[in-house]
Amino acid sequence: MATAAFSTQRMDPYSPPPEHLRLQEVEPVSQVGWQNDGKIWAITKHADVRAVLSDSRFSSDRTLPGHPTNLGYAPGNKLKQLIEMDPPEHTEARGRVMGEFTLKKISAMRPRITEIVDQALDAMLLGKSEADLVEALALPVPSVVIAELLGAPYEDHDFFQKNSSAFADPHASSEVRMEAMGRLKGYIADLVNSRVENPGDDILSRQLAAGANPEDLTGLGVLLLIAGHETTANMISLSIATLLDKPELLQQLRDNPELIPGAVEELLRYFTIAEIGGLRLSTDDIEIGGTLIRSGEAVFAVCNTANRDPEVFPEPNKIDFTRGARNHVAFGFGPHQCLGQNLARLELEVVLSAVIRRIPTLRLAIPFGEIPFKEYGPTYGIFTLPVAW
Ligand code: HEM
Repeated sequence: MATAAFSTQRMDPYSPPPEHLRLQEVEPVSQVGWQNDGKIWAITKHADVRAVLSDSRFSSDRTLPGHPTNLGYAPGNKLKQLIEMDPPEHTEARGRVMGEFTLKKISAMRPRITEIVDQALDAMLLGKSEADLVEALALPVPSVVIAELLGAPYEDHDFFQKNSSAFADPHASSEVRMEAMGRLKGYIADLVNSRVENPGDDILSRQLAAGANPEDLTGLGVLLLIAGHETTANMISLSIATLLDKPELLQQLRDNPELIPGAVEELLRYFTIAEIGGLRLSTDDIEIGGTLIRSGEAVFAVCNTANRDPEVFPEPNKIDFTRGARNHVAFGFGPHQCLGQNLARLELEVVLSAVIRRIPTLRLAIPFGEIPFKEYGPTYGIFTLPVAW
């Protein structure tokens, strides 16, 4: 049985850690070393990862003793979030908000998201020939989108964007990040209270009308912000960096813009940025891939490695926009599968289309090898992406 400590640190910008891929080949359900001398079951095959994530006996409740989520970078939030609930609490809480994120509802946001992206690009391009794409485009777009979903008044966008960017800034100390989160939490709590008196056309008002209590609703607002901001921003910058590094892929999308939705799906699979989305605690004796996992043992459904499983994705290390990779697990799987996935897909699609159409001369302003990737952390991505045109 393997005992090496398991690390999510990436060595190559385009690949999950080689040790994870090796385990997938030789011992796809293996108990490995984990933080603070602990142990965890690393599950690396696509079918086994789905089996774990779709079985609620593998608990998401971080308050359970032995749950492997205490990684030091959790948001320190006392409010219980959807993402850490088990059924029946989770089923009820998710059921209350699911209707806000249906494909139909999100598709209706396309014109507004297109405007938001165009405004960010206008500001980026105005009188300049270079920029940090993370700051100019990747962070502001999801921040403005979520602010509007929550019904934050337009004049507060600056505050919202500044603080959500500060919270997402991995260079900042955890104190500075938590201060920004505290300000956002206070802001969302005030927003919820203002909606009690003056309902509007937004998620918070609709949830209040459906009987949600203000405290739970503040928790939901904060979760949507955390879950939807940096994730989408990192996928935007990784996708654009890849297209600029691989001109043949960029040209393929220029020539065939109808491939953009497929490209979004393939890039989601390829990068699978939510590094620790699949951490669970077993609450029963359960067999996975022929191996018995005992009640009380920690489990890691390793999505980025599952998404390179050659049994499901032939030539898994090749980026192929025509692959039709919808069965990937970049958004997780099962009851906790990403609530915002339709929104994330739409934002990525609109951003890629606009960048390809509007900036034909876009190029990296530093060699690809010098891009500062977030090799270690809860979300894979890029710190800064200097580009020129
Ligand atoms: C590319 C962008 C995104 C990625 C890769 C991503 C990934 C994920 C993953 C892997 C999970 C499952 C975690 C688990 O099983 O424990 C998840 C859950 C979640 N995501 Fe996303 N996400 C993205 C964007 C968004 C957006 C835009 C929103 C909303 C505005 C959002 C809201 C949520 C919520 C609320 C959950 C918890 C769902 C639940 O526990 O029932 N995400 N996300």
